[in-house]
Amino acid sequence: MSLQWNDAPLNLEPYWMPFTANRQFKAAPRLLVSAQDMHFTDIDGRQILDGTAGLWCVNAGHNRKPITEAIQRQAGTLDYAPPFQMGHPEAFVAAEKLVQMAPKGLTRAFFTNSGSESADTALKMALAFHRMRGDVHRVKLLGRERGYHGVNFGGIAVGGIAGNRKLFGTGLAGVDHIGHTHDPARNAFSQGEPEHGGVEMANAVEARMLALHDPSTVAAIIVEPVAGSTGVLVPPKGYLKRLREICDKHGILLIFDEVITGFGRLGRAWAADRFEVTPDIVTCAKGLSNGAVPMGAVLVKENIYQGFMEAAAAGAIEFPHGYTYSGHPLAAAAASATLDLYREDGLFERAAALEHYWQEAAHSLRGLPHVKDVRNLGLVAGIELESIPGQVGKRAFSAFLQAFEQGVLIRVTGDIIALSPPLIIEKAHIDQLFGTLQQILGRLE
Ligand SMILES: Cc1ncc(COP(=O)(O)O)c(C=O)c1O
Repeated sequence: MSLQWNDAPLNLEPYWMPFTANRQFKAAPRLLVSAQDMHFTDIDGRQILDGTAGLWCVNAGHNRKPITEAIQRQAGTLDYAPPFQMGHPEAFVAAEKLVQMAPKGLTRAFFTNSGSESADTALKMALAFHRMRGDVHRVKLLGRERGYHGVNFGGIAVGGIAGNRKLFGTGLAGVDHIGHTHDPARNAFSQGEPEHGGVEMANAVEARMLALHDPSTVAAIIVEPVAGSTGVLVPPKGYLKRLREICDKHGILLIFDEVITGFGRLGRAWAADRFEVTPDIVTCAKGLSNGAVPMGAVLVKENIYQGFMEAAAAGAIEFPHGYTYSGHPLAAAAASATLDLYREDGLFERAAALEHYWQEAAHSLRGLPHVKDVRNLGLVAGIELESIPGQVGKRAFSAFLQAFEQGVLIRVTGDIIALSPPLIIEKAHIDQLFGTLQQILGRLE
C-alpha cells in the first residue's frame, strides 16, 4: 500500500534528502509527524523517545509553548525585514540576550542561519581581522582531524572527516589540520574528561604544526571543544587550556565551534564555561533557537569587533558579509524566547544535576558484546562498537533501526552511537533509553 498523508498519496521521490541513504530510506521510510517535549509521534502514531534532541538542537524539548507562541506572534507582525543597512528590533533583542549568556568577554553577536554558515563566517572574520590590522601574513587556518564544522567549503576545508571532503575538489588553500584528541589505548571508558595526554597533545600542535607553518602565518585554529559528529570525543584534561596558551603565545585566534556544546549540553551554558577556557570567537546554532527556526550566530571578543570598526573608513561597511536571512524576525523571536526559557527553567543546571545519573546509565553498557568504548560529558554519551570487518557502520545502523522499532531515537556515526537528549529529560527516560540499548546490544549481530 502506498503511503498516505492528508488523505493523499505521499510521493517520496522528488525530495533529495540530506545525509541520507535515499534509496534505502524511500524503500522503508521513517516519518515523524509531530512532537511534544521528549517525544516524537511517527506516521503510524507511535511515540518515539527523542534520545538526540532532534539533531543536537532541541535542548528545551519539543514544541515548547513560549517558543511556538513567540514565532506565531512574530509571523503575524513582521514576517521579514531586510538585514543589510536596515534592521528590526527583535534581532537586537536576541543579540543582547545572547551576549548576556555568552562566555565572559565575548560581547558581540553576528547572526547566520546554521552551524555551517557560522563556521564559514568565523573563518572569514578571523582572516579579515588580521588583514585589517595590517598583519597580512596571517592567512592560514588550522582545523583538527575528526572535526566537523558543517558542510560549506570553509567548514569542510578545516573539518577533518575524509568522507565529507573527498568528493568535492581541492578545497581551500592554506588549510592544515592538527591531530585529534582520541586516545582509546589510554582513555577508553573514561567517565567525563579523560585523564591521559591532554597537555602532551596540545604541545604536539605547537611542536609539529606550528614549526611547519611558522606561527606568524596562522590566522586561527578552530576546534569543537568536544567533537560531536565524529562520535563524542571528549578532550583529555588540560588540552584546551594548553591550546589557549599556545594560541596566545603566537597571536593566533582560537575559535570554539560550540554548535553542539552550546546552550547547556555540557551542564554549563558553553563548553568555554565548563572547561574555563575563553576562545576569541564562538560559533553556535542549533540550541540557539531550540531548532524551531533555523538560526546560527558567531560571538566575538570586543577587540575583534573594534578591530573592524577602527580599520574601516567612516561610513564604510566594516565586514562585507551576511545573509538574506541573518537575524530573520522569526528566528530572532524564537531565539529570544528560547534563551528566556533556558534561564527560567534552569535547564543548564538541570543538565548538570543529571550528569552523574546519565554517566552511570551510559557506562552500564560496558561489557556488552561489541562495546569497545563508552564516553560521556554533560548530557552527551558516545558508545563505540567494534565494526563488522569491511562493513563500517553496519552494526550501529542496525542498532539504530532496532531502537526506532522499539520507540527510541538514537543517532549513529560510523559504528558509534551518539546520544544527546533534550535537557528536560527525566530519569525514567534515561532508564528507558539505556534499557532499550542494553537489550538491543545484548543480541546485536
Ligand atoms: C560542531 C558543528 N559545527 C557545525 C555544524 C553544522 O551545522 P548545520 O548543520 O546547522 O549547518 C554542526 C552540525 O552538526 C556541528 O555539530
